[in-house]
Amino acid sequence: MKFDPDKQSFADNHRLMIGAIVPRPIAFVSTKSKDGILNLAPFSYFNGVCSNPPTIMFAPARRGYDGLTKDTLNNIRDTEEFVVNIVSEEFADQMVACATDFDKDVNEFEVSGLTSVDSVKVAPPYVKESKVSFECRLQTIVPVGDAEPGGGFVVIGNIVMFHVDDRVLKDGRIDQKALNPVGRMAGNNYTRVHDTFTIIRKMRPDK
Ligand SMILES: Cc1cc2nc3c(=O)[nH]c(=O)nc-3n(C[C@H](O)[C@H](O)[C@H](O)COP(=O)(O)O)c2cc1C
Repeated sequence: MKFDPDKQSFADNHRLMIGAIVPRPIAFVSTKSKDGILNLAPFSYFNGVCSNPPTIMFAPARRGYDGLTKDTLNNIRDTEEFVVNIVSEEFADQMVACATDFDKDVNEFEVSGLTSVDSVKVAPPYVKESKVSFECRLQTIVPVGDAEPGGGFVVIGNIVMFHVDDRVLKDGRIDQKALNPVGRMAGNNYTRVHDTFTIIRKMRPDK
């Protein structure tokens, strides 16, 4: 089968993308509004960008039903700060509880029962239950597509502080078994990263 994205709805295109781009890491993003209200929401269009300076990206889309921008994006536009918290299986349920479309006055730390801890360099707190968190300052927001449902944004941020739980740090590296991160599949499905395998890569053809 072939699908021409111009000949089907953005929802159909979305379904093909989230079904095929799997598993996706999850950025659990904490922000603080300019009025001081905390916000916490997951985003699985998330990845690293580069490490000098350490930089990440995630993509908060416009709301699918009315095209409005999400609280996370609005707060980052206003304050230029956010924290990306990595999601472990132990609190995956609480992460999903934060993905309900609450009013902007709702603090998802309170809804989920997750614990906020003051960050070192930015105003939004990090999630205590996360074993790894990145305090970030906004580098840039790239609008993508039209200002209507289906359109979105790429948020690019520089990491200004790493928080790594001692229990996941082994010889200066992150132990993924101890991190036990959750990946997003399509719809309401998630995955673990227990079933891994190794392929040795040659760094150069002659070595
Ligand atoms: C695991 C998971 C991943 C998600 N990933 C995204 C994403 O990449 N982009 C997006 O716009 N919404 C994503 N969502 C939906 C948002 O979390 C949801 O719209 C949330 O209400 C946004 O909150 P906010 O308005 O407080 O920013 C995801 C939801 C879940 C449960």
